[in-house]
Amino acid sequence: MRKPIIAGNWKLYKTSKEAIELVTLLKRDLCDVDTVDIVVCPVFTALSDVSDTLTESNIRVGAQNLYWEDAGAFTGEVSAPLLKELGVEYVIIGHSERRQFFGETNETVNKKMKAALRHQLIPIVCVGEVLKEREENKTFDVIRTQCEESLKGLSSEEMEGLIVAYEPVWAIGTGKTATPAQAQEVHHFIRQLLTKMFDEEVALKVRIQYGGSVKPENIAELMAEPDIDGALVGGASLKSESFAAIVINSCSKVQTRK
Ligand code: PGA
Repeated sequence: MRKPIIAGNWKLYKTSKEAIELVTLLKRDLCDVDTVDIVVCPVFTALSDVSDTLTESNIRVGAQNLYWEDAGAFTGEVSAPLLKELGVEYVIIGHSERRQFFGETNETVNKKMKAALRHQLIPIVCVGEVLKEREENKTFDVIRTQCEESLKGLSSEEMEGLIVAYEPVWAIGTGKTATPAQAQEVHHFIRQLLTKMFDEEVALKVRIQYGGSVKPENIAELMAEPDIDGALVGGASLKSESFAAIVINSCSKVQTRK
């Protein structure tokens, strides 16, 4: 059985002080949860403090990006070994905001994936269509290309451990969540695609998160779908009450499956 995973993508929010306050509350409220993996992804400058605050807790730390070279003349970049040094275990790669505003392509996503895996960071690789693509019935084509190009050259062993986040771009930060059926349809498609690219055993192990306006009120119905294994949460991860409620409400999946 795939263990559900809920990750908070804090984007460009929270100073270190605010980040420490938030994770201190989460640590208190979520200390009993062991059936769901919990990850928070603060900005780079807060990683060290957040990581220290979460030592020996059940909450893991992720970064929001990385560069594919380990070191060199690459002004402004941050590499996998530097993240590891701070206790980071996960890294979001290819978020739609990076694709949209910072020129991220499937090719750069692929290089970043390989760098993360080389250093035992667990990638959360994001895919998703924009509204126009959905309206033109191109969703599956877009997802197929993103998956094939971003995951190119990965071994089955590497693939098994990583996380795919399906985030329809039209649902991010808009309050417009995909319906559970819409999300399930694409998650199922991704799993079938992974079966073709790798094999069924691998595809059944990969955890696929949904992302896009996830809230405490809609997480349980999303999690009830067979191929939805968790969520990548933006806005609602910035407050301890809403993020903790999402994690707790996602536990229902584990209970119903028992
Ligand atoms: P949202 O963002 O939950 O605010 O829609 C999700 C994301 O961008 O990962």
